[in-house]
Parts: sequence; structure tokens; C-alpha cells
Amino acid sequence: MPGKPEALPSVLIVDDEESQRNIIADILRREGYQTFRAGSVEEGVRSFRENGPEIVLTDLKMPGGSGIDLLVQVKKLDQEVEVILMTAYGTIQTAVEAMKKGACDYLQKPFEKDELKIVVAKAWEGKCLKSETRDLKRQLQERFRFQNLIGSSPAMQEIYHVMERVLSNSITVLIRGASGTGKELVARAIHFNGIRKEGSFVAVNCAAIPAELIESELFGHEKGAFTGATRMKIGKFEEANGGTLFLDEIGCMRVDLQVKFLRVIQEMEFTRVGGSEMIRSDARIVAATSEDLEKSISDGRFREDLFFRLNVLPIQLPLLRDRKEDIPLLARHFLERFGKQFEREPPGLSGDAIDLMAEYRWPGNVRELQNTIQRMMVLSDSSTLGVDDLPGNLREPPPASDGAGLQLPESGVSLESLEEDFIRQALLRTGGKLDPAARLLGISYKTLQYRIRKYGIQGSS
Ligand SMILES: Nc1ncnc2c1ncn2[C@@H]1O[C@H](COP(=O)(O)OP(=O)(O)OP(=O)(O)O)[C@@H](O)[C@H]1O
Ligand SMILES: [Mg+2]
Repeated sequence: MPGKPEALPSVLIVDDEESQRNIIADILRREGYQTFRAGSVEEGVRSFRENGPEIVLTDLKMPGGSGIDLLVQVKKLDQEVEVILMTAYGTIQTAVEAMKKGACDYLQKPFEKDELKIVVAKAWEGKCLKSETRDLKRQLQERFRFQNLIGSSPAMQEIYHVMERVLSNSITVLIRGASGTGKELVARAIHFNGIRKEGSFVAVNCAAIPAELIESELFGHEKGAFTGATRMKIGKFEEANGGTLFLDEIGCMRVDLQVKFLRVIQEMEFTRVGGSEMIRSDARIVAATSEDLEKSISDGRFREDLFFRLNVLPIQLPLLRDRKEDIPLLARHFLERFGKQFEREPPGLSGDAIDLMAEYRWPGNVRELQNTIQRMMVLSDSSTLGVDDLPGNLREPPPASDGAGLQLPESGVSLESLEEDFIRQALLRTGGKLDPAARLLGISYKTLQYRIRKYGIQGSS
């Protein structure tokens, strides 16, 4: 019998007729079951609490409470208990009622010995089968992957869980996470497992397309709309009709286009550049960003209304260093993948190498890990990759401080020159804008102004 363990379960027999319950107990005991007996609902519940039997066999009609009462009470104590009702002729209807309430079977009195044995055995078999299914479900829930996404850490389990909730609908999803954390992979997994998988997955990278072209890229253009528009062109929005439009690096979209875009996703209607015909397109929107959109909003670089419209269901991907337990799993995955690609047996990783990998900060996240493994496999043919095969930056000890990781050189340093250098770097990064530069440096606008004058830094606005 599938899933039947060695020991047979215990059965609680509840019947107000003593001779009846003794006969039943006798038969079952000879079969190998452990039995308990009770003469009323109250006694039955008490014995159930004390003995925790796996199966309850109860008479339906008893003075002071029916078998259905008992059923309801024991099910409250243990949802998984199997209850069999014994009914006299003419009360079948009640037995059916009881099954609806969770009884697994019934026996019509008077019954034969064999009938009793079969019904109890079936109840036990059913219980075993159910618990097997439960184990299987639990295993499935603790997954180590979702499509191409690898990771069994709690953080990734949570991501899979959220992803599952958007597969059966088309709600807008905003995927956030640092570079290389798997934003595009998540977007693809949602599309290819969701209800829109028959449609196309169309990706637009707002950071890679020149600002002046992005509008026609998204909405298409009519012939002659601008110099060079020699033919009518369909935009990505139209192409994604019935499918998914993946807007990558949404934080880089120009503010004026954000206004138009918001209107379009609200109405699902737009015109091509240079055209007047209203075009409808029903595309699921999945957006992604590695930027701090809240900060962009306060800097006036991102519209709050668009943010709210996109942030219907946010998915925040963890940094790789915040799910270190997934590093060995991911490393193995990439070793195997590149093994296939390079047509060789995937090498192993030494314990020391794995330890160093777990210590490293992985600023480039999963992409960096993937590239690291690929490079190691290109450079070494050995069947086990060790510490010596790791790139230099992984072999260096991690910086002592959690800050910028700066170490005081032997020769000492001038704090002022460091400060000046950092201010110049910050201004370079923000294109000379003081407000974001001050934020990067963790000082006020006024302080920054003062220091700029102090060091005579030119070219800031
Ligand atoms: N959980 C993961 N399991 C397996 N591979 C992953 C995982 N996350 C990322 N990768 C791999 O790492 C690389 C980077 O992933 P992806 O392009 O999805 O990241 P991203 O967040 O979009 O990065 P960016 O912000 O730089 O565009 C891809 O090659 C992808 O296959
Ligand atoms: Mg990406």
C-alpha cells in the first residue's frame, strides 16, 4: 500500500452501546490497530485529547450529542483526523451531510467484519496519501528556483511568492534592485509564466535610447513625422499588444515623456508621433529601475503620479551579499551552465574558494558572480577551481570599515585634499548640480557652497 508505514494507527471508537464498541475494538485490535473506547461525545472528545488517535469511528445517534458534534469538535482539535460515521438504516442522508462536514466515510449498521476492516484501512490509506501530497507541496514551496531564477534563501522565496500572485492577472509590476540583481530575469519569468505568455515580451531600455528617439520608439511614428522618418513605424507599445511591455531603467525617462506615458498607461490609447489616429494597445506594464525613485521624485526628476501608477506591485530584489546562502547554489548553476557552453565537465569549487566568495561584497551582484565563474573557467582547465583561480579582488581582505573602504596610507594623507577631491568627484557625477552632490556627500547645500568657494572649484551650477 503506498505510503503505509509499518505501524498501524490508533482508532477511537465512540458508541453508546458498550457491547457494540467492544466488538469493533476486538476486530480492529486483531488487525493490529491500537484502540480507545468512549461511550459519549463528551468522553470521546476527552479521549481524543488524551490519546490523539489518527482515526475516529463514531456512532451517529447517541444520547447527549450526535456523531456530527463529535466530528466538528475533533476536527477543530486536529484538522487531519479521519472520521468515519456509523449510521443506522434510514439516516444515510445525515451521513452524507457529515461527509460534507469533513467525515471521510460512513458504515451502515449492521455491517460485516470485513466491511469494517476495509473502511478503516481506506481511511488510513487516504490519510497517508494526503500527508504525502502535503510533503510534496511543502517541498515545492521551498523552491530553489523559479524558472531561470536561482536562489533558495528566504528573500528569494518571498520574491517567488509575490511573483506567483501576478501570474494570473495583468497588474502593473515595478521591479527594483541594484545592477545585476536579476530585474530583467524576473520580468521575463512573469511574462513567460503568466496569462500573457502567448503575446510578445517587448523590452525598452529607457537609459539606452537617446531622449529624442524614445517617444517614437515607444509610440511609433507616421511617415514624414520628422527628418529621417521615411516610413511609418509601429512603436513598442503597439508591438506589446496582448503581451508585456518591459520598461527598463524607467528612472531615466525624460520628465516630459513621463507625463505622456502616464496618460497612455491610464487610457491605453495613444497617437504615433506625427499622427492623429488614436491607437489602442493592451500591454501589461512591467517597469524596472536601479535608481532610488523616491530621491528622484524629491529632486524633481521623476513624477510622483507616475510612480504611484507604476508601483502597484513592487518587487524589491535583494543584493547578493544580503542572500549569501545562495552563493554556492548560484556558483554551481553557473559552473554547470558554462560547462555545457564550453562542452566540458563542470569543475568543482574548493571550500576555501567558496568561503572567499561568501565574504566578498559583490557590488555587481549576480551578474558579477556569473562573470567571475565564466572567467575562472576560461582561465583554468582544472577539475576543481581553488583560491588561486579567483580574481584578485576576491582574494584581498574585505575593507575594515563599512564606509567607502578607504585605508589610511602609510605616508599619511591631507584631509583637506581628500575633501576637495571628493567634492570634485561628486560634482562630476551630478553634472555640476549642487543639490544631488550635497546629498551624495551627506552635507547641506550651504556647506557645499561654502567648501566650493573655499577650494575655488569652478564649473558648478
Ligand atoms: N537569481 C538569479 N539566478 C540566476 N541568474 C541570475 C539571477 N539573477 C541574475 N542572474 C543573471 O545575472 C545577469 C544579470 O541579470 P539581469 O540582467 O536580470 O539583472 P538586472 O537587475 O536587470 O541588471 P541591470 O540593472 O544591470 O540591468 C543575467 O545574466 C542573469 O541571467
Ligand atoms: Mg537590466
